[in-house]
Amino acid sequence: MSELETPPPAEGGRTHWNSRLGFILAAAGSAVGLGNIWKFPYITGENGGGLFVLIYLACIALVGLPIMIAEVFIGREAQRSPVGAFQALSKPRSPWAGIGWLGVLGAFVILSYYSVVAGWAMHYVWLSVTEGFSGKTPDEIGALFGSVAGSGSISTGWHVVFMGVTIAIVLGGIQKGIERGAKILMPALLGIMLLLFFYCMTLEGFGDAFRFVFSPHADKLTAGGALEALGHSFFTLSLGMGAMITYGSYLSKKADIVSTSITISILDTVVALLACMILFPIVFSVGGEPGEGPGLVFIALPVAFSQMAGGAFIGAAFFVLLVFAALSSSISLLEVASAYFIDERKWSRKKAVLFTGISILLLGIPSAWSQGNAENPDLPGASRLFGPSMKKLTEKVFGEGKGHDWLGLFDYLSSNWMLPIGGLGIALFVAWGVGGEARERGFKSGSKFASLYWGWVSLLRYIVPVAILAVILYKIGIFTPDAGK
Ligand code: TRP
Repeated sequence: MSELETPPPAEGGRTHWNSRLGFILAAAGSAVGLGNIWKFPYITGENGGGLFVLIYLACIALVGLPIMIAEVFIGREAQRSPVGAFQALSKPRSPWAGIGWLGVLGAFVILSYYSVVAGWAMHYVWLSVTEGFSGKTPDEIGALFGSVAGSGSISTGWHVVFMGVTIAIVLGGIQKGIERGAKILMPALLGIMLLLFFYCMTLEGFGDAFRFVFSPHADKLTAGGALEALGHSFFTLSLGMGAMITYGSYLSKKADIVSTSITISILDTVVALLACMILFPIVFSVGGEPGEGPGLVFIALPVAFSQMAGGAFIGAAFFVLLVFAALSSSISLLEVASAYFIDERKWSRKKAVLFTGISILLLGIPSAWSQGNAENPDLPGASRLFGPSMKKLTEKVFGEGKGHDWLGLFDYLSSNWMLPIGGLGIALFVAWGVGGEARERGFKSGSKFASLYWGWVSLLRYIVPVAILAVILYKIGIFTPDAGK
């Protein structure tokens, strides 16, 4: 069927994905995003590579994948957005619905700052095309990032553009907006990543990068780093806030959830590792530092582009793709928030998407004004308020030197608290809260992995809760494995 025809009438009147591939691409599009290309390489760098990557892979397989299957199962079973799905599968007014609420809140929090970072990537497309990076020294390129992120007006401008595009796609609906967008964005993204990867294989830093990422040396890893790997496995797979519940709710009841979840997790992991194998060879070849932090993608790569033949073109292509990756994720975040108003409040899609989209846009403005340099005497008042002053204020809660600016705080609260708690709730709900019969049928229907059913349930019952509780106790300061380090 062509995508231009009217969608097939769905069970209960709900719109469904056009095809299995469409769902996989949309869900993989949600998973693959700034988390893979911007965040994963820099936290790998900060945690010394090797062992961190190994722990991350274990977290994906043993915690992330079981929760992804659980989320898609909840959505497909209930055919509703998260808040309603928990009620439909337990009872009305059940406390489990709180997990759904936390998810809606999470969508607002995450998308508000996610869009600001994506806006920087848009600005970098613009920079690559107009002035390019060639002729600039590494220091100048580093300073350039500071001046872009640090400028409240540049960051806000692109944040508005990025939210505008996200809103436009989600207004198009499931098949004509989200699915069609993913079918264009994902293949393009994979194609250009492979090209960049082949290019990076020719660089002298490739061997060092390979050893850095894949040989398990433990020097820099702390328990805190290991727990960060767990938190990131939620973020990168879009888990813990109902994004996969929402996408799963547009699956027909016959769809196989296990092999699709495995495919999505593998795609996400491959992209994250590819991103490292693109960034680190470049960083090592120009003698850079892997532990550079959040500026890695915006500084290390432009430095390389400034020295490469055809760098302007490759640079533009790379940042276009970073924008694409961010866009297919931001779509899913906006869809979670909107689906609540569409399914539970019976708003029209247009009203729901405009309302949530514009609210998130406004909520993101303080993030856009939070990255100014505290040392700059001419820093505008707003930048001072949401940056350095916010850091001071939060130091009172998190301790000396551990404060966050507005953007950092939203990232911290969502990745470290909301997603793990949401994930824990989802695991417990599927492990103990829903009927065993529905769960077993749901897992096994149409799946060639039916024999893994008990393995899945056991992971959800024991391993997942213990792992997440360890993270939470560590954050609160009750569990202190790094003491004395
Ligand atoms: N997974 C995306 C990334 O890696 C971010 C994202 C999209 C997300 N939707 C989400 C994170 C839902 C948590 C929950 O960039």
